[in-house]
Amino acid sequence: MNQATDPASLIHPPTDSAIRRAAAELTAGNLVGVPTETVYGLAADATRDDAVSKIYQAKGRPSTNPLIVHTADATAARRYTSLFVGDRRNADVDSALIDQWDIASALWPGPLTVVVPRSTSIPDIVTAGRDTVAIRVPDHHVMRKLLKQCPFPLAAPSANVSNYVSPTTARHVADGLGQSVAMVLDGGRCDWGVESTIIQLNADGPRLLRPGGITAEQLRSVFGQIHVPDQDGNHTQAQVAPGQLPTHYSPDKTLVFLDRYETLLRDPSFQAPQRTGRIAFGKLNDAQRSRFDQVWVVDETGDLRRIASSLFAVLREADQSDCDLLVIDRCEESGIGRAIMDRLRRATRSVDQTH
Ligand code: TXA
Ligand code: MG
Repeated sequence: MNQATDPASLIHPPTDSAIRRAAAELTAGNLVGVPTETVYGLAADATRDDAVSKIYQAKGRPSTNPLIVHTADATAARRYTSLFVGDRRNADVDSALIDQWDIASALWPGPLTVVVPRSTSIPDIVTAGRDTVAIRVPDHHVMRKLLKQCPFPLAAPSANVSNYVSPTTARHVADGLGQSVAMVLDGGRCDWGVESTIIQLNADGPRLLRPGGITAEQLRSVFGQIHVPDQDGNHTQAQVAPGQLPTHYSPDKTLVFLDRYETLLRDPSFQAPQRTGRIAFGKLNDAQRSRFDQVWVVDETGDLRRIASSLFAVLREADQSDCDLLVIDRCEESGIGRAIMDRLRRATRSVDQTH
């Protein structure tokens, strides 16, 4: 894309002709910004090395961090795993994995990504050379129409520059990656607002690699048992999705939790910033507001689903403000709250570490 392209001109309402054009761009090996119910994706034909390599380049993503493959439905997804041979279960694969696949795929379409042994239909560049592939059937009418028109699956990471906050509007994509995409399909604001839940299927039961919209509670109820990292995120490296770096999803400004900020204020060596912003998860009274130069209330009612849905847009907005320091609330770690806190732990950095 031309440096001078106006980001807004890349954004297209999801008419049938725009979706056809997006399919044509993808067929030509180009990148398209696509809406999903979680966050926007940066899509390419998952079967083509040249197209997929453009994703890594555009995001500045290390080639060791594999991508999620998106398909139109669970039947289409089967081809990319080694769990099936044609319509039949593969007798060479542990049947526990195939049973888990059946349970997981019944949750599709939806915000769930499943890591399974891969087939040879997916090139190494997508899986970063691993013997597993991450697959998801998204639940967004525009993305589903697009997938049905493409005779190939779509590799799509979140459509942000590597390590920045994921995009939840078409404008976020055009602003961040406008120079790399042929177009962005505008599917409105993402419903969930946080990336999909990722599980890895294993003989002794699925492991939760990344919390998201499908909650640990829901997974436990369908699988009976799942392996979940403890609340401090302590698990062996082998159990963590390779892209889940300790610092991730971060705004450029320093972001700290409210309790950490209170501790800093009591520290005589702490140099108070010029302007401090507060990102709140519920209504603030006048006294609470007056302590900060700017306040964003993510959701007045404190509803976790609504907080998740608006969180990344608010983080981006606060990042563009003239505050030097951003202070954010914690939330309860149940349901979708686990995904919110997972992202915020990665986004908050100790003030000491940023000097
Ligand atoms: O909601 C979502 O999942 C969005 C939308 C666009 O679908 N996509 C997304 O992709 O969040 P990305 O690339 O930003 O995050 C995918 C995560 C990365 O942490 C990556 O390391 C992990 O999935 N992953 C991909 N393939 C994997 C594999 N074979 N084994 C373990 N983790 C894998
Ligand atoms: Mg991402």
